[in-house]
Amino acid sequence: MTTLPTVFITGASSGIGATYAERFARRGHDLVLVARDKLRLDKLAERLRVENNVAVEVVQADLTQSTDLSVLETRLRDDARIGILINNAGIAQAGGFLDQSPEAIERLITLNTTALTRLAAAIAPRFAQSGTGSIVNIGSVVGFAPEFGMSIYGATKAFVLFLSQGLNFELSPKGVYVQAVLPAATRTEIWERAGIDVNTLPEVMEVAELVDAALLGFDRRELVTIPPLHVAERWDALDGARQGLLSDIRQTHAAERYRPQA
Ligand SMILES: NC(=O)c1ccc[n+]([C@@H]2O[C@H](COP(=O)([O-])OP(=O)(O)OC[C@H]3O[C@@H](n4cnc5c(N)ncnc54)[C@H](OP(=O)(O)O)[C@@H]3O)[C@@H](O)[C@H]2O)c1
Repeated sequence: MTTLPTVFITGASSGIGATYAERFARRGHDLVLVARDKLRLDKLAERLRVENNVAVEVVQADLTQSTDLSVLETRLRDDARIGILINNAGIAQAGGFLDQSPEAIERLITLNTTALTRLAAAIAPRFAQSGTGSIVNIGSVVGFAPEFGMSIYGATKAFVLFLSQGLNFELSPKGVYVQAVLPAATRTEIWERAGIDVNTLPEVMEVAELVDAALLGFDRRELVTIPPLHVAERWDALDGARQGLLSDIRQTHAAERYRPQA
């Protein structure tokens, strides 16, 4: 019998992360659950152990703290049972750019980008060495939409998409699977935490539907999974346009329109 890989999930105390934990436990995977709220993690872990007969470990960590991140990095480097990283922990932005304090900016960018990148970087060499392993990064459709007025949050999510595409390019030849999951508005606590009443939003996906769709994409080994995107060809067109633009970047000379007029 082959042993299923252990799944390491950040932000597992609520919302999307907690739902990933439930789904992977149901599939028979052991879990490592990470977040700050140990009480909530312990409660979830106990339930998942009883319901699914899997091993669930809880690690309390604040991913904005470099010392906490170091402990997790060591674990990801050394524990060969961990074969799937769900890089999910994240916060949203309350207010526009003019409302942000330096502390809030730093917290948002550190959690949504630095922590996610450091954890991926910790586990990637072991995955590449063994020729197997999966990294799932939770982005957002806000990363496509400066028009939403969540500039810093959206920028962190654009980073997540780019990083995932880059990691896929670098690591898939070495047998490592990388998936970017891009939800739109989903019913979780992220809204309340950012001071927004989720019930005021015109359209919201339930978290179970979002995660089940993301897992279908995972099983199909999709690079980019956008559960709320109904016309898949839209993504193909966007990515095709990007590649077309790249093919027209010729760096020896400035484009005609930027040359001095005689
Ligand atoms: N819900 C949406 O509409 C939506 C849409 C697009 C993308 N997303 C993305 O989905 C991901 C999950 O969010 P969610 O919607 O499930 O929100 P959520 O219910 O608020 O969950 C966020 C998780 O991150 C953890 N977390 C927050 N700050 C942390 C820190 N400093 N250190 C460690 N863990 C921390 C929280 O746990 P503790 O408080 O216990 O630490 C919680 O488990 C995020 O990356 C978010 O950007 C969500």
